[in-house]
Amino acid sequence: MVAVAILAAGRGTRMKSEQPKVLHQLGGRSLVERVLLSISDVRPSHCFVIVGYKGELVQAVCEARLSLDRQFGQLPALTFVEQTQQLGTGHAIQQLLPHLEGFEGDLLVLNGDVPLLQPETIKMLVETHTTHKNAATLLTAQLPDPKGYGRVFCDRDNFLQQIVEDRDCTPEQKQNRRINAGVYCFNWPALAKVLPDLKANNDQQEYYLTDAVNFLAPVMAVDVADYQEILGINDRKQLAIADSILQERLKDRWMRAGVTLVDPNSITIDDTVQFDPDVIIEPQTHLRGHTVIRSGARIGPGSLIENSEIGENVRVLYSVITDSQVAADSVVGPYAHLRGKAKIGQGCRVGNFVEIKKSTVGDRSNVAHLSYLGDATLGERVNIGAGTITANYDGVNKHQTTIGDGSKTGANSVLVAPVTLGENVTVAAGSTITKDVEDNALAIARSRQASIANWQPLKKD
Ligand code: UD1
Ligand code: CA
Repeated sequence: MVAVAILAAGRGTRMKSEQPKVLHQLGGRSLVERVLLSISDVRPSHCFVIVGYKGELVQAVCEARLSLDRQFGQLPALTFVEQTQQLGTGHAIQQLLPHLEGFEGDLLVLNGDVPLLQPETIKMLVETHTTHKNAATLLTAQLPDPKGYGRVFCDRDNFLQQIVEDRDCTPEQKQNRRINAGVYCFNWPALAKVLPDLKANNDQQEYYLTDAVNFLAPVMAVDVADYQEILGINDRKQLAIADSILQERLKDRWMRAGVTLVDPNSITIDDTVQFDPDVIIEPQTHLRGHTVIRSGARIGPGSLIENSEIGENVRVLYSVITDSQVAADSVVGPYAHLRGKAKIGQGCRVGNFVEIKKSTVGDRSNVAHLSYLGDATLGERVNIGAGTITANYDGVNKHQTTIGDGSKTGANSVLVAPVTLGENVTVAAGSTITKDVEDNALAIARSRQASIANWQPLKKD
């Protein structure tokens, strides 16, 4: 049986942020969420998150994401344990003593600021630990630049001799490039026995978890194959480096799955985005949140799509789409903004400076130039003329506009909601429509044009 503890109580002073470090974002997820994802193969019996600095916020984010995202499906409910004062990583784990009384299994400990670990790596660590029946097993890496990390000293069989924190290292010890990743698997009864004996006699006057490791035997170290996985985030520079590693991973994965990325370095993709094969993403395109892109779609250049579903063979050009859906074979843009649950049907054309909010556009309808549709429901084959605006807001409430199948609005029409146009209605250009229009009618609501013959313009004396 394995219990998990994630250390997430520190503020992360070096981030220079009001926000707790573990809530900083990487590829659309917070650091702590990423750590939670990395334990998905372990199937823990308990999962503790040690919180301190803005703990209620960390708890709220974790709980909200866990309930939202199917990828966390394997995890038990999280137990948040408060560490009121952050007196060190060992002190953080001491907080678990009352929670795990009598627990006979293993405890997997992860730092909340190590977000790139792969589930297979964690699985390998736990398996090595259980096969060898170690008192503790820790994940290590050979870093080209080990500065800042605890150094790990082992004998030839990878049994631990000592971990020394960077700041407590002698100049010779600093030469060792094998570092402590901050990820450990402990035999809990053995750890529980040594935890109360930790002393804070080090440079930081903190209770170090690494000291507990030093008290245990046998302790084995296992190197991770790719050192990039264990990079810790202590400042914004490291956050940016981790972000580029993550982007590269995601892009490799999607290109292998049949997605063309044109100029991949200019594209960003959250790891919650899904693609069907045969999608083309053009430069300067950013895909975020729970977005799905179907086969044959071509997105970009210059587009931002967030929490939206883009259907088969859809073309999106220089546009922003959030929380919306576009069905197959439609064309969006250049310069369209779809938001707040806009739902575009099949074979539609939306674009050239068009904003659509919380509206449904039926199949084969066009909203092709300079329009705003808000809180509107359009039938099929509707043609919205250039510059048509739904006046949906009276200053207090939003109102609905409904337009039946086959209707057309002329250029520069204003539809003052609430208002309903029937089927096959024609609205004359420049009309301000304030009353419902019946099926098959022509609605004209503008002042009649007058001509005054032989008009003599006024002249200055
Ligand atoms: C720690 C390890 C170091 C290792 C490195 C890997 C110790 C003493 N050192 O150093 O050997 O190479 O991680 O990244 O463990 N935290 C708490 N409560 C506390 C203190 C910290 O929850 O009282 C949390 C922090 O929020 C953070 C994690 O523990 O998520 C690690 O703490 P941090 O101060 O960043 O440790 P490092 O100095 O990086
Ligand atoms: Ca750290």
